[in-house]
Amino acid sequence: MQPIEGFSKLSKLEKIDFLVKSYLSNSSVKKETLKSFWIKEEKQQQLFDEFSENTISNFIFPYGVVPNVLINDKLYCVPMVIEESSVVAAASKAAKFWQSRGGFKTAILGSEKVGQVHMIWKGEPSTIENFFKSVKPQLFEEMSPLEVNMKSRGGGIKDIKLVNRTAEESGLFQLFVTFETCDAMGANFINTLLEALGRTFKNLMSAQFRDEELMIVMAILSNYTPNCLVRAEVSCPVSDLDDKSHGMTPEVFAEKFMRAIRIAELDMYRATTHNKGIMNGVDAVVLATGNDFRAVEACAHTYASHKGSYQSLSHAEIKDGVFRFWMDIPLSLGTVGGLTSLHPMARLSLDLLDSPSATQLMEISATIGLAQNFAAVRSLVTSGIQKGHMKMHLMNILKHFEASEEEILIARDYFENEIISFKSVRDFLAQRRNLQ
Ligand code: MEV
Repeated sequence: MQPIEGFSKLSKLEKIDFLVKSYLSNSSVKKETLKSFWIKEEKQQQLFDEFSENTISNFIFPYGVVPNVLINDKLYCVPMVIEESSVVAAASKAAKFWQSRGGFKTAILGSEKVGQVHMIWKGEPSTIENFFKSVKPQLFEEMSPLEVNMKSRGGGIKDIKLVNRTAEESGLFQLFVTFETCDAMGANFINTLLEALGRTFKNLMSAQFRDEELMIVMAILSNYTPNCLVRAEVSCPVSDLDDKSHGMTPEVFAEKFMRAIRIAELDMYRATTHNKGIMNGVDAVVLATGNDFRAVEACAHTYASHKGSYQSLSHAEIKDGVFRFWMDIPLSLGTVGGLTSLHPMARLSLDLLDSPSATQLMEISATIGLAQNFAAVRSLVTSGIQKGHMKMHLMNILKHFEASEEEILIARDYFENEIISFKSVRDFLAQRRNLQ
């Protein structure tokens, strides 16, 4: 195979032809498959093509909704984009369970964003430190023209600090900048400001200290935003945790649930899976609303380590007979700008959520994460998760063998207490079909 020059310049059809010829000659995926996922309306397809580069088709994920999500006494129907089966069902079940027990309560603990200018200064630390103090008001002033729009919405730079990291890396200093970006996630705003700030500080330093040069290594936002934090929680008397499907008393259920959370707090292996379950919910809402799920993932997992070891994001306690389950999670989200207004489905999601502010979207996403986590842990400490999963798996196998409605009904009954595997379902159907 020869490398190709100028691939990006080819038309979409030329790109596809090249791919089919070069990489897909032995695949069942052909030109028609790729074209079958194009959006019929040309303008709409063009919009999607322009989100990224070298686009040749679209990759479709299911778009589902969770009704009955009661958050701070307001009912939501929350959209979720996720390909994994059982996730939406689990969130729906948890939402329904908590709807009759007071619903979810949320609180915004902060909305601060972060950026850094990383610099190397080989001179005396006190020189740059004193100089920074003296020019700090000027730095604010010079950044002001870039903040006009954001300031009119109540945002802008909150503070600039100089951080000395020379103990860890020779000459390393950072401008550590905090921002309020209101309803925008703010990545472009922050990065533009940081680059300008770096240039301005360097120029001021050069004018003052002609012999020693300040090197700007890079200027970039941090996706770690521990003070852009939301809390979601549920609580009820332990006795209200009764549920016939548990097959155990509310007290035993609460005890097992607490143990499961405790294990995720102290064991990194379990914590990772536990938090993955939380992110099943969070990411699905983040995706449905056109937000950056990679940023959210990166931040959540860093935050899960903020106490020095990787731990569960959620916690539980029983005090005076009341069960409380909660989670603090940093979520840097936007409801204006970026894909949120460009992607028609993201726009629809935001409409469905009653046009939330960024902080409201943080509350909704955290709630779905907590609901997801409650449902997963509930299954794990009661029936185990395979029961639900296997039901879906059974349906997929039955569909594969083109089972009739009647066969599906009988198979579901039969496999209630039997091991579900591709072979066992195939044998079951073969035997029935032979008998008829
Ligand atoms: C599967 O996607 C997520 C779970 O593994 C989460 C958990 O174990 O808590 C069920």
